[in-house]
Amino acid sequence: MLRVIAIDGPAASGKSSTGARVARELAWAHLDSGALYRALTLATIDQLTAPWSAQRILALAEELPVRLVLVGETFQPEVAGVQVEVAIRSERVTQQVSAVAAIPEVRRWVNARQRDAVAAHAAGVVVDGRDIGTVVFPDAPLKIFLTASAQERAKRRLTQRGHRVDDARLARESQALAARDEADATRPVAPLKPADDAVALDSTTLSLEEQVRQVVALARERFPD
Ligand code: CDP
Repeated sequence: MLRVIAIDGPAASGKSSTGARVARELAWAHLDSGALYRALTLATIDQLTAPWSAQRILALAEELPVRLVLVGETFQPEVAGVQVEVAIRSERVTQQVSAVAAIPEVRRWVNARQRDAVAAHAAGVVVDGRDIGTVVFPDAPLKIFLTASAQERAKRRLTQRGHRVDDARLARESQALAARDEADATRPVAPLKPADDAVALDSTTLSLEEQVRQVVALARERFPD
């Protein structure tokens, strides 16, 4: 049986924090596919002049290289041997990532890296993203589609960045999230949508602990050994 738990959902719905904790509880590894799209975007905007072509982005990815490395039990992206966890969360990357992620060849490359990572990790991998249950691992025995209201997601994102949550900021952030969700959900390749057999989890009023508890309980049912 494929040892993958797929967690998909819109921006800032809590996929990564849930995925990381579920993986820790189960002693599995965690892979945030969005981080790899972000690392590719970071390399692209730093090194290539627009307009970017799929071919140049992928040549750059191989040359630098952009790759996933297992640090502890987390697959983390590296660009030219440097960990980029902070830089990939910057505003300039966030603004461009959906455009890079909409390129079919880029998605094929990222998907191959994810499948390599899973093949190299026997215990199991919790993978989060937008198309994990629909495209990358359609045979994953457990698929979660995590949502939360736009307002709640905007609040979480601002708090995560250490900003004060006032009405103006909340409105701006919630608009930016909605624009990215719209881009991700309406693109022709691998749009954001729940797999037919995904378990829907609305986290608007759940604590992170409760969310994790529910996914771990489902995981223990689906992966009894
Ligand atoms: O952290 P946040 O929820 O804001 O986003 P992310 O998971 O880091 O993903 C960043 C962007 O990468 C998304 O807005 C998508 O455009 C793209 N992405 C994707 O297309 N497919 C995935 N499996 C993961 C991310």
